[in-house]
Amino acid sequence: MFNFVGGLVGLSIISWKLSIILLIAVPIKIYITNYFTKRKTTLFKELMIKIEKSNEWLGDALANIEIIKLWNLYTHSKNAFIDVQNEEISSRRTTIYNDKINNMISNAIGLIVNIMIYLYGALLVIKGEITLGGLFAFLSYSTTLISTISLITLVKYRTAEIIPAYLRYMEFLNLDEETLADTKKVSCPNRPSKISVENVSLVVDNKTILKNISFTINKGEKVAIWGENGSGKTSIINLLLGFTSPSSGSILIDEINLKDIDIDSYRDNVRVVAQHTKLFNRSIYENIDPQNNYSEQEIIDLLKEFNIESFLQSLRRESNVKIGTNGNKLSGGEKQKLSLLRAYLKKGNILILDEPTSNYDEESKKTFDKIIKMKTNHNILIIVTHNRETLREMNKIIKISNGTVDGIVTYEEFCEATS
Ligand SMILES: Nc1ncnc2c1ncn2[C@@H]1O[C@H](COP(=O)(O)OP(=O)(O)O)[C@@H](O)[C@H]1O
Ligand SMILES: [Mg+2]
Repeated sequence: MFNFVGGLVGLSIISWKLSIILLIAVPIKIYITNYFTKRKTTLFKELMIKIEKSNEWLGDALANIEIIKLWNLYTHSKNAFIDVQNEEISSRRTTIYNDKINNMISNAIGLIVNIMIYLYGALLVIKGEITLGGLFAFLSYSTTLISTISLITLVKYRTAEIIPAYLRYMEFLNLDEETLADTKKVSCPNRPSKISVENVSLVVDNKTILKNISFTINKGEKVAIWGENGSGKTSIINLLLGFTSPSSGSILIDEINLKDIDIDSYRDNVRVVAQHTKLFNRSIYENIDPQNNYSEQEIIDLLKEFNIESFLQSLRRESNVKIGTNGNKLSGGEKQKLSLLRAYLKKGNILILDEPTSNYDEESKKTFDKIIKMKTNHNILIIVTHNRETLREMNKIIKISNGTVDGIVTYEEFCEATS
């Protein structure tokens, strides 16, 4: 701005009449570029959403390729894909048009200004109001001034796409919930001894999924969460894992609010078997021990201890074979066992299991019970299950119904109520 005013003063000393052309043209140019810069930010934001949508669509289709084959959804899928692709292409086209139009107008203004200075300047020279040397000095000086302004607006225009990209990236990282290395957060107590859920409600998309849930679990306790499908059990587990935050109420770990705890330090204390097993397309060995803390022999010994003979064989035979995307080369039961062993080997005294044996055969369930029966003086065990044998081992059973706690009972009380 200072340079601009300074430059204009210099130019008006040569010829104030010619300077008026610049004084009018420059703000117009800045105004127009600003307009296109704003438009570009919006268009780019839209474009990113379209790209995300089309990638998401493709990922989903690939993950469900069997369904597409079995239900003969080829034409349907192809058309749907063309639709999402077209949306993306049209969004790209608009963004490119915006670039081109901005460029054209910008160049046109530059050209018009030059022509006007030439014509009006020539007139002034003829009239004797300015010398020919003065006109050329004005021309070269004003060209420098305009290109400086163009450069500044160009930088602004080019960076317009960075801001939405940055914001999307931050959203992607989910920094609201999981602030990385946040110095304001406290470290989780090592081996926490108490988890309290106090009046927790969870609302997603205006739908109340959990309402005023309260319970406490102390170290040494084994607790089951029991309830019908869709009653909210997994939603409670996701809250306990810090994957979602309560809409109201609080979750306290040794009296510290989970939202004030550095989430990574908390998760170092938690071992999980999720309801829907998530596995890497790597070897069985790498899946059991993703942090690479154990030797192959230690893992083999563990498998022996739990009598998972068939697993041991496949581990030996295929220790380097990848198990497929999300383990699709394994059976449902094998995947769950892998997930259980992975949780077993991780450090941390809070063990959370969400319907971990739903795909087990009877023999495997016995192995599982062996793990459940193990000493738990320092441990906290939370398990979502319907399995009577497992429920029998629990200190208390939290009954969930329609997103509320329907009672916290012992196994005996549970049997009385359901018999
Ligand atoms: N991310 C979500 N968005 C919207 N609704 C959800 C979401 N997750 C779960 N729900 C709904 O919340 C209810 C409880 O789900 P969930 O906790 O998975 O039940 P459960 O594990 O007891 O079978 C269900 O009605 C389900 O449709
Ligand atoms: Mg569930």
